[in-house]
Amino acid sequence: MAPQLRFGSALALVTGAGSGIGRAICARLAREGAAVAACDLDGTAAQETVRQIGGSRSEDGAPRGNHAAFQADVSEARAARGLLEQVQASFSRPPSVIVSCAGITRDEFLLHMSEDDWDKVIDVNLKGIFLVTQAAAQALVSSGCHGSIINISSIIGKVGNIGQTNYAASKAGVIGLTQTAARELGRHGIRCNSVLPGFIATPMTEKMPQKVKDKVTRMIPMGHWGNPEDVADVVAFLASEDSGYITGASVEVTGMKLAWGRTGQRSRTPTNEKASEGRLELLWEGQRLPRPGTEMGTPSPFISPPMHLSKCFCPSQEAFSCNCLKDPGLFSLPQPLCRVSC
Ligand SMILES: NC(=O)c1ccc[n+]([C@@H]2O[C@H](COP(=O)([O-])OP(=O)(O)OC[C@H]3O[C@@H](n4cnc5c(N)ncnc54)[C@H](O)[C@@H]3O)[C@@H](O)[C@H]2O)c1
Repeated sequence: MAPQLRFGSALALVTGAGSGIGRAICARLAREGAAVAACDLDGTAAQETVRQIGGSRSEDGAPRGNHAAFQADVSEARAARGLLEQVQASFSRPPSVIVSCAGITRDEFLLHMSEDDWDKVIDVNLKGIFLVTQAAAQALVSSGCHGSIINISSIIGKVGNIGQTNYAASKAGVIGLTQTAARELGRHGIRCNSVLPGFIATPMTEKMPQKVKDKVTRMIPMGHWGNPEDVADVVAFLASEDSGYITGASVEVTGMKLAWGRTGQRSRTPTNEKASEGRLELLWEGQRLPRPGTEMGTPSPFISPPMHLSKCFCPSQEAFSCNCLKDPGLFSLPQPLCRVSC
């Protein structure tokens, strides 16, 4: 069946277009007829995206339009403004679909995070989106055009994640920025929505150790990671008139929100190993508990190193919780993972 061409006359600007989700978004929008301005800090990667989506016809016969690559650092005000000027000059119109997908991580515990790691992530993930959204909105308003702005946030902006104070803050900021922009720009016919992916298999998440990936997988209610195309599908919907009365929304693409407090019930093998002191028994759903207030410094079999349990307590005798400590350098499994029943 021929694909729907929802973007026949649209020009789409996509930042972070040289990799992962951004590249998949470019491909999806191009497949539905949009001309794509693919921007990335890595100009060669942006060109490769254009090469991949280029050509007059796709395999299924749909026209792909004309695309162009742009190199820009979205965290630099001059570069962001210059990007919009270059795109307008190249295509003789402002983009009517703007997808801000450029993003980075610099993970570290709050206790150890450098100011530089904080600033860099905020600059790219939050300030970059402010700069691109502002420049694009100014171009649209001054030319009297309507548009759809889609900012890529993250579910981490809503639920947090150990080792990612900078990232979580930046992504929470994107949600607030987008909601506010939607309120301000609605009267100009510009819709603004954010997308909150969960764990998506891309170069950004590839660097996670396999055992951490496995643990994350167990926390996803649908039981598997998303693909960049899963996010691109939602972006295409928000970019199109199919979502014409949706603005200020934050759409989660997560396989259902991560089960921070419910993990282990489905696929984890119950474990009941003795802790090294010999008087504590570990613990999973329904397993026996240590005495309330017991200190546990022993690595847990299911929160295997580098995570440790400490300061266990059992306030109600029906539920048990504890604090988790983790060494730096990994994505984390958060505190509720340690919750078990008496
Ligand atoms: N992969 C996931 O699990 C996941 C989950 C939630 C949200 N996200 C968000 O989705 C977006 C895309 O992530 P991804 O997984 O495809 O990552 P990725 O690392 O594969 O791609 C990010 C792209 O952004 C570009 N970029 C980085 N800094 C830039 C800058 N200053 N200016 C312009 N471009 C810049 C990079 O060169 C890269 O091509 C990011 O905003 C990320 O935070 C990803």
